[in-house]
Amino acid sequence: MKSSRLGVNIDHVATLRQQRGENYPSLVNAADIVLSAGADQITIHLREDRRHIQDTDVPAVKMVCERYNKPLNLELGVDPEIVSIACDIKPEWICIVPEKREERTTEGGLDLKSPDTFNKIKSAMEKIRKESKDSKISLFVEADTETLDKCIELKADAVEIHTGDYAKAHLEENPIESFLENFAKGKEQIQAKGIGYHAGHGLTDNSLKPLVDAGLFEEYNIGHWIICDAVFNGLEKSCKTLIDLCNSTK
Ligand code: PXP
Repeated sequence: MKSSRLGVNIDHVATLRQQRGENYPSLVNAADIVLSAGADQITIHLREDRRHIQDTDVPAVKMVCERYNKPLNLELGVDPEIVSIACDIKPEWICIVPEKREERTTEGGLDLKSPDTFNKIKSAMEKIRKESKDSKISLFVEADTETLDKCIELKADAVEIHTGDYAKAHLEENPIESFLENFAKGKEQIQAKGIGYHAGHGLTDNSLKPLVDAGLFEEYNIGHWIICDAVFNGLEKSCKTLIDLCNSTK
């Protein structure tokens, strides 16, 4: 079975920094450790409220990615100012996510069944495709047939499936079979169109394993668990734990 890629979300390193308003821990050092450990990409989310990643972090992290010849995956909502920043920075990947100011973290996928949301995403994609031609676009969505049809209609380069509810069920030792079946169904629908099939949100070492064992996704973007585990084991070791998992074949 082909191994999958690991994107490491380092937003939580910036959260620690912003908590005290100091200039440490360094995001550049974090990106450097993650990529030297063998991760496949760095993921950061420039939020409209700038609660963790700051504007200056984006080009700084991109430079580290360039040094390792690895992609930067920039997550964003469709706020026009943020989309313009992304078009200037021109990351390899842009992942469009829903964003609400009051949420603790991204709470679910884009509601593409709403014509208003669909049209907003469509025009953001048009701007990106015009101004940052080489950036590929992924859409963060639920594994729902109708929503995935909308991603196909929008000609997304990839979808990133929201795994938050699955991960929570796994953590609480509730049944996960229906999630796995749904992810497998989504995979068939999306890969038949040559679109990338990525996953992220809430994943831990334990909840990642069944997904890798079932060969469901090409790429996983994981942040919170890695930074939490790094408190005890160090960032390099925590990344290597998940890289090994992504490379494990059943
Ligand atoms: N993918 C997307 C689209 C996200 O919004 C996030 C959280 O910023 C992640 C992946 C990583 O989630 P977590 O930090 O829970 O691993």
